Amino acid sequence: MKRHLVKTKDNSYTLFVPELDEHYHSIHGAVQEAEHVFIQAGMLPVAQKKKQFSVLEIGFGTGLNALLTCLSADLHQLEVSYTGLEKYPLQSEEYQKLGYTDVLPQHYPQNKTGPLFETLHQVPWAQYHTIRPGFQLRKLQTDFKNFSEQAAFDLIYYDAFAPSAQANLWTVTRFTSMYKALKTDGVLVTYCVKGEVRRNMQAAGFQVEKLPGPPGKREMARAWKKQCTPGPFKFPCC
Ligand SMILES: C[S@@+](CC[C@H](N)C(=O)[O-])C[C@H]1O[C@@H](n2cnc3c(N)ncnc32)[C@H](O)[C@@H]1O
Repeated sequence: MKRHLVKTKDNSYTLFVPELDEHYHSIHGAVQEAEHVFIQAGMLPVAQKKKQFSVLEIGFGTGLNALLTCLSADLHQLEVSYTGLEKYPLQSEEYQKLGYTDVLPQHYPQNKTGPLFETLHQVPWAQYHTIRPGFQLRKLQTDFKNFSEQAAFDLIYYDAFAPSAQANLWTVTRFTSMYKALKTDGVLVTYCVKGEVRRNMQAAGFQVEKLPGPPGKREMARAWKKQCTPGPFKFPCC
């Protein structure tokens, strides 16, 4: 997959895929978007209830969400077990140019990141690695369609390319598989809030809410896997 480096409006870089006409992040700000959607609306609400939890990321890509999650785990003294799925891993020449550790939000201790970002990319695939005391990482090089772990995660970062580029990743079937991957009371966050996507999430059993989006985007979506209530309706998890 060919990719070009592009600077976004918050001065952080993203990648552009000409073949799909898609960016890896919002052009209004890659780091701002990742911090808003995945950390502030996903990780921190989960951390209010649990100090130890597991995250599944669909589309590990640049490793930006893993980097912010690792730093947040440190900052808030959490224990996070992180699984990142990726079908098309970046080459070292690509991730070395991203420079995310130079443009982190101010609340992260930038002088303490060291070679963390490179380490996230360099650790071997398919096994868990302790990156820092409160952060374990397992990267799986696989197509999301082949992933079938169930009731294993507290939080999903759903960061696939947009439905206009990869419609097959936003279907009821895919959301049912994510619903199953979550534990009860687990939550999925994503930047995409399209009506059809929210309806597919609901058809898979999720309770979906719209939240204010990151700079440059009006809204984002958060979807909860709530406990089944006995009744005449059958939920996908039952
Ligand atoms: C929008 S980008 C976001 C990546 C990453 N979260 C980041 O912040 O850089 C989508 C990612 O999903 C990956 N991807 C696309 N199709 C996939 C599939 N079928 N299974 C797993 N990963 C996939 C892409 O290679 C890309 O890294």
